Amino acid sequence: MSHYPRVEHIAIAVENLEAAISVYAAILGRLDSGRETVESEGVRIGFFDLGGARLELLEPLSEDSPVGRFLTRRGPGLHHLALEVDDIEAALERCRAAGLRTVGDAPRQGAGGRLVAFLHPEGTGGVLVELSQAPG
Ligand code: CO
Repeated sequence: MSHYPRVEHIAIAVENLEAAISVYAAILGRLDSGRETVESEGVRIGFFDLGGARLELLEPLSEDSPVGRFLTRRGPGLHHLALEVDDIEAALERCRAAGLRTVGDAPRQGAGGRLVAFLHPEGTGGVLVELSQAPG
């Protein structure tokens, strides 16, 4: 099967999740945001379905979580871009062969049972890139 890679989600770091949800609900004309807390990542997530991709708003659970440190250093803004891959191990091998660095242990279990891995922004045009493989 051949198909184009898909944006799985776009994640924005925010200081106040409820306020950010209100803003994006106004932009999108939708009120049906979902919410999820991922303790292992130290974030509370509000998300909107964009039709195959998700917009995720990330509020840190503490200042010393990854998103908390990001907010302290850089303020609110685009945090990462998640791209879906069929085979995350093969994708990581390609990325390492291309000289890219991974962040943390990779791959690991992410939200929704997905396998995820992160590529360091220094090699990707300044954007933290998440590779994401669907469960099963
Ligand atoms: Co993500």
